[in-house]
Amino acid sequence: MRKKTVRDIPHLEGKRVFMTVDFNISLEDGKIANDTRIVETIPTIKYLLEHKAKIILASHLGRPHGPDPHLSLRPVAKRLQDLTGKKVHLIDRFWEESSLPRIQKINSNDLTLLENIRFFKGEEDNDKEFAKHLSKMADYFVNDAFGTSHRVHASIVGITQYLPSYAGFLMDKEICKISKALDNPKRPFLLLIGGAKTPEKISVIEKLLDKADTVALGGAIANTFLAAWGFGMGRSLVDYEMVEMARVVFWKTTHKHSALILPADVVVSDNERKKRPMVVEYNKVPHNVVIYDIGPKAQKYYQKLINQAKTIIWNGPMGLYEDPRFMKGTDLVLQTISRSKAFSIVGGGDTLTSIKNRKYLKGISHISSGGSAMLAFLEKGTLPGIEVLKDA
Ligand code: ADP
Ligand code: 3PG
Ligand code: MG
Repeated sequence: MRKKTVRDIPHLEGKRVFMTVDFNISLEDGKIANDTRIVETIPTIKYLLEHKAKIILASHLGRPHGPDPHLSLRPVAKRLQDLTGKKVHLIDRFWEESSLPRIQKINSNDLTLLENIRFFKGEEDNDKEFAKHLSKMADYFVNDAFGTSHRVHASIVGITQYLPSYAGFLMDKEICKISKALDNPKRPFLLLIGGAKTPEKISVIEKLLDKADTVALGGAIANTFLAAWGFGMGRSLVDYEMVEMARVVFWKTTHKHSALILPADVVVSDNERKKRPMVVEYNKVPHNVVIYDIGPKAQKYYQKLINQAKTIIWNGPMGLYEDPRFMKGTDLVLQTISRSKAFSIVGGGDTLTSIKNRKYLKGISHISSGGSAMLAFLEKGTLPGIEVLKDA
């Protein structure tokens, strides 16, 4: 499947392009922890600027409930300015009709970035009026937000009803590279999933049990599966609403091709992370502790699985990597993948942030900007936000 890209837009000079991107980066103390998702969109931005188009960028950051100063795109605007050398105008209150003339007047030497698009409810509701309002800002729509394209939102799907819609270079690259992994993967095919976004990842796991040979879990998502098995998880992060679904997945694994692997041991501490970390077996988690990482036995076993695999796809940290005491599982998985000769794809906002040592990036075949989006693409071979772009 190929989509028309910005290269196929007939006349760019002087035209306005509404470009959706996934600038949902991790912030640590208000600072950008990893700017890969911004850097990856620069080729499309450069191309549009070279062709004298006027660019209006839109992205979400986090999951706000209405305007929230902590989730402003201001730090992103600043970084974008440093990366491009262009003045970046951050437009607040862009949903008001009165903001349109200001946006439409932009010149082709500067960049316009709309404030966090999820501050407005119409975005996640894929509201028609909101999508129409966004479309009035431009002549063309470009989607370079692979990481958000599993969402049926106004700036991803709704807007394409009103503007000719093309893929950006990052989107094009993601489609090519990940499709390649899906076409006849070399076996064994290992899928490693961690992180905390359990609801969106869980249904994908079920489908991917048909494609991969082994699916190994870590992070908070593993807690939910262990809880579904009936083990006490103490005060760990468990998505109790998903426990029933996890049971269904267990049941389905009995007649699926692949094996579902859970960590044999875990690293725990108390709620405030004050107590010295301690290793316990998966079935002996005390009631007053929290799981923060996979344990040494699990790490060793996951290493073995990685070393045996010929295709590896990894999304989601194995633990609370933000605390250096709990990033061992994540780090070991990363190091082992980077040293392996297998075809490997690593993706996800937090997964990329957890890569502190850039030398590990070299050993990975494709770094994807998508986490849940990458998994959804693996499941279906497309995404709602890709479907609505012009076919090549
Ligand atoms: P990605 O962005 O790579 O797709 P997610 O957003 O799903 O990953 O999850 C990342 C988050 O999961 C991180 O903030 C990390 O601290 C958290 N996490 C991982 N393991 C645990 C755990 N055992 N307990 C609590 N949080 C965890
Ligand atoms: C991600 O980080 O996975 C994407 O930016 C999507 O974010 P969301 O899960 O809040 O829609
Ligand atoms: Mg994340």
